[in-house]
Amino acid sequence: MRRWRGRLIALGVTLAVLVPLAYLWATSLVPNNYSPMDMGYADYGGGPSMTMPMGDHMHHGDTSVADLTGPKTGKPDVAVTLIARKQKFTLPSGETVDGFTLNGSSPGPLIQAKQGDLVEVTLVNESVPDGATLHWHGIDVPNAEDGVAGVTQDAVSVGGKHVYRFKAEQQGTYWYHSHQVSSEEVRDGLFGTIVIGGAQDDVIAAIHTYDGKRTINGRTGEQRLDVAAGKKIRVRVINTDNTLVRTGLVGAEYKVVAVDGREIHGPTAASAAFPLAAGARVDLEAVVPATQALKLEAGTVSMILGEGDQPGSLPSATVDLLTYGTPAPLGLDPAKADRHFEYKIGRTAGFLDGVPGLWWTINGHKFPDVPMFMVAEGDVVVMTISNSSGQAHPMHLHGHHAVVLSRNGLAASGSPWWIDTLEVGDKESYEIAFAADNPGVWMDHCHNLPHASEGLMTHLAYEGVSTPYRVGGDSHNQPE
Ligand code: C2O
Ligand code: CU
Repeated sequence: MRRWRGRLIALGVTLAVLVPLAYLWATSLVPNNYSPMDMGYADYGGGPSMTMPMGDHMHHGDTSVADLTGPKTGKPDVAVTLIARKQKFTLPSGETVDGFTLNGSSPGPLIQAKQGDLVEVTLVNESVPDGATLHWHGIDVPNAEDGVAGVTQDAVSVGGKHVYRFKAEQQGTYWYHSHQVSSEEVRDGLFGTIVIGGAQDDVIAAIHTYDGKRTINGRTGEQRLDVAAGKKIRVRVINTDNTLVRTGLVGAEYKVVAVDGREIHGPTAASAAFPLAAGARVDLEAVVPATQALKLEAGTVSMILGEGDQPGSLPSATVDLLTYGTPAPLGLDPAKADRHFEYKIGRTAGFLDGVPGLWWTINGHKFPDVPMFMVAEGDVVVMTISNSSGQAHPMHLHGHHAVVLSRNGLAASGSPWWIDTLEVGDKESYEIAFAADNPGVWMDHCHNLPHASEGLMTHLAYEGVSTPYRVGGDSHNQPE
């Protein structure tokens, strides 16, 4: 009798543990394939709500993202074909990498356009097994050109191609990369750089780590570029890695003249390091001194500009854009915002798609049950991004530039600080504002790409716009 009771209690305890676990496991399963529109729940940010268009049954009058294209006609000013391959290739500095290339190299070709140019890029997938796309990181293109598999297009499978067409509206430093299985494809080489409105002698410096080897433009170690003393140069630094890079020029004072493709107002000469978030870009300007060379430093790699001796190393001081430069009009009024969103990043133990682990949360919700930020065209939007997850996250909103209003409650007092990718450190909180002026369904995710694939990813969706594309399983679309 007693023994039976003991067994029953043990069974009860076991069930008490197993049943909720089984429930948590079962409810964490992500359907085989699904529409990004069905993900999570609508968050209207305190603004008027509207009916959420569903992927499967679009309402009459809804706009499909597939129709939000760039100019369909007109002769392109810049036309490029990029052939994506899986292959072994040799870095310019000699090391062999087994990864992906565009036209035989990684980084892929530099695309240069003038402001106002019509750019046409044809992506051909010759041999990337999981498929590929091209996303124009930081260029606020029309939604259908944004290159996100399962959201704005289907991934281009082997043998297929896709044509992107957009107007190069905003000068600046950008990059492009695959947004299909991006945590692997970008890491292994499927990316390149694109500059709008640059000068011929600007220096491009794309930082990327292949197989644990940090490079600048595909070169490990130290590289030298001949630049005459006395010459003023602009160095466009692009962080294509997953984590922040402390970079900057040594050997002369430099100015931070642009960030994320937007000019800084009233930059002052600095002698400090610049904290460049993953995915972000910074343009540095300096005059090559007569006494020594100028050095672009980025951790274990460097680029020596000029013929003189090498200068020392980056100082410990850091440029803080919250106070750098001088104020100028923002062109939008955050005090009159139509919507206020919270993007609270946390972490919790549990299951995601049946896999146990520590998973990211957004506003306490785990992927795919995350908020869908809903806006209407013309809204002014304020968003507070806060982070208590124990790690830093470079947060990237597609299709828009946002201006930083404050950090940890301290108002920005320097130049307008426009970003498309913002490093939000652990225990930090940023308030940003943007104009909802580019209709579509836009990803808003962490650019430490493995984090995005672990669920730190959601969308900003416009009223009346929906996507016919699907993510996961037999759709073969896996954006992260
Ligand atoms: Cu650089 Cu969602 O991407
Ligand atoms: Cu992250």
